[in-house]
Amino acid sequence: MPAASTERFSLEVLPVPADDFAASVRAGLTAPRKVLEPRFFYDALGSALFDAICELPEYYVTRAETEVLTIHAAEIAAALGGPLRIVELGSGTARKTRILLDAILARQRTLDYAPLDVDAGMLEKVGNALLGEYEGIRVMALRGDFRDPARAIATLPPTHDRTVILFLGSSIGNLDPSEAAAMLRNLRSAMRKGDALFLGVDLRKSKSVLEPAYDDALGVTASFNLNLLQRINRELGGHFDLARFAHRALYDETLGRIEMHLVSRGAQTVRIADYEVKFADGETIHTESSWKYDDASLAALAAEAGLTVERKWVDGREWFADVLLTASA
Ligand code: SAH
Ligand code: TRP
Repeated sequence: MPAASTERFSLEVLPVPADDFAASVRAGLTAPRKVLEPRFFYDALGSALFDAICELPEYYVTRAETEVLTIHAAEIAAALGGPLRIVELGSGTARKTRILLDAILARQRTLDYAPLDVDAGMLEKVGNALLGEYEGIRVMALRGDFRDPARAIATLPPTHDRTVILFLGSSIGNLDPSEAAAMLRNLRSAMRKGDALFLGVDLRKSKSVLEPAYDDALGVTASFNLNLLQRINRELGGHFDLARFAHRALYDETLGRIEMHLVSRGAQTVRIADYEVKFADGETIHTESSWKYDDASLAALAAEAGLTVERKWVDGREWFADVLLTASA
């Protein structure tokens, strides 16, 4: 039974272990190289900070993808075909999604839209807003993990329509290539004949553009990163002094990835509920990567998952690509 439902809106919460956050934080901070999982960025404040990141002059990603979708909306909708239903992985505010919803609803009268996100509050808010904006839409929101899309898709009602999976905003880039391949294989297993994946990938470009995009002058990305420590303090009884950690974003040109870290200012010991974590001066917590793709690495990733790139649309500077993938023959 969905946790909340009206005729046109439902929210299904896929179960997670009760100590999911606590266990992940403890494992990550007691590992030889400290890490925190980026999926925990998105509490209510984290989602609001990400929304602010999208407005930053340095963060070109959202604007570039908006350009691609706006200019090519009708052509993309035609390529998606139909009648279709949409499953969107990591839907967030679904602001860019609306560009596609407009184009799709110009071709079919009704649409089932299933946004999947970790932030249940955001799903409620966005889902209900969409009902007011689109008469023909039915929203079946799923609170779950986009790394297991097959599980989420399995909860949806059977359909004769094709299913198009949206994964926008270069969220695929926040998975390491091996994790991304595993995630796409999982998705592929849930795709039937005629289904397709519409994927947003950020492209490789110069360090001088990339590093400021993840380390802006206003410090919003730093706040987004540090909010993870604040969340540990608030929800897990942590004692991080946020002033004693610095945000760092570095682009590794060989790997083609941005790495975000929180760097310990000085040696310190931090208590989290019933255990302590020691930091050496300058030691870091790796909180996120953002992998950048080119045609070759994207084709390789797709091939690993049994998918083929059918179509590609890019912005004027060729900074960002939206690609249509189908199951390989
Ligand atoms: N699609 C939007 C938002 C991207 S930000 C855009 O293109 O702008 C990433 C989104 O994915 C956030 O809404 C976040 O809450 C969600 N998210 C992050 N990790 C997730 C995970 N493991 N499973 C499900 N959702 C996740
Ligand atoms: N997936 C996007 C990216 O990698 C958005 C994102 C996730 C992000 N975490 C971020 C952007 C932290 C800025 C900072 O670009």
